[in-house]
Amino acid sequence: MSEAPQASNSITCFDDTAAICRQACDDMIRLARDTIQQRGVFRLSLSGGSTPRMLYELMAQRKDEFDWNAIEMFWGDERNVPPDDDQSNYRMVCESLLNHIPYAPENIFAVPIDVDDPEKAAKQYEGTLKERFGGAELDWDLVLLGMGDDAHTASLFPETEAIDRTDRLFVENWVPKLDCFRLTLTSPAINSARNVWFMIGGAAKRPALTKVWSDEELSSRKYPSRLIHPSAGNLRWLVTSDAMP
Ligand code: 6PG
Repeated sequence: MSEAPQASNSITCFDDTAAICRQACDDMIRLARDTIQQRGVFRLSLSGGSTPRMLYELMAQRKDEFDWNAIEMFWGDERNVPPDDDQSNYRMVCESLLNHIPYAPENIFAVPIDVDDPEKAAKQYEGTLKERFGGAELDWDLVLLGMGDDAHTASLFPETEAIDRTDRLFVENWVPKLDCFRLTLTSPAINSARNVWFMIGGAAKRPALTKVWSDEELSSRKYPSRLIHPSAGNLRWLVTSDAMP
């Protein structure tokens, strides 16, 4: 019987976010090629944020090194706004990546935003995820994540309900500090991934990252990035030196 895959956890330090994105792009090209060779498809969960955006722009520049016909793209979280809103993660990915590459439209799975009914939109997207993955075990080939200065990741913000909805894969999440709904993968939906890469840049992240990595018994409700530990997948932290605890 083959050995159960062992979860791994690695930290790599970079001079700046541009260096993080160059490394992430190099590694994603290799990972996507190998995954497509083995399983015929590469399922990628995209993150919002300025650092992920920089990566998408790099991917667009190196578009000839990806087999877009075999790459399925999903959103790990989304703002509760129309797709053409300047706050939309879908719009951000279009501007930085999709508008510049020969993607297959049937491979792009945007969150079906209904601003007046985020609960319905979340349930619908959760159904899409289950349908594409053939069940509730989302074995993403890669989940890209950023981390906020408050230690949030995706749209799992401190002290918000989505942190506790571990019976679900994708939910609407009221975020009091933003006074708005967000839509997000839950922590179990991220932790079932084969690979999870955090991309974290800037000195403003250091206090949060210190808490996220602390050995103290700290609350994951307060520091949601502590929720992320893939059960059998590889967790990578790509961090700038000024963000390192
Ligand atoms: C979002 C992201 C969010 C982001 C972090 C880090 O929709 O905004 O999903 O989790 O990744 O806030 O953003 P920066 O990389 O811009 O610091």
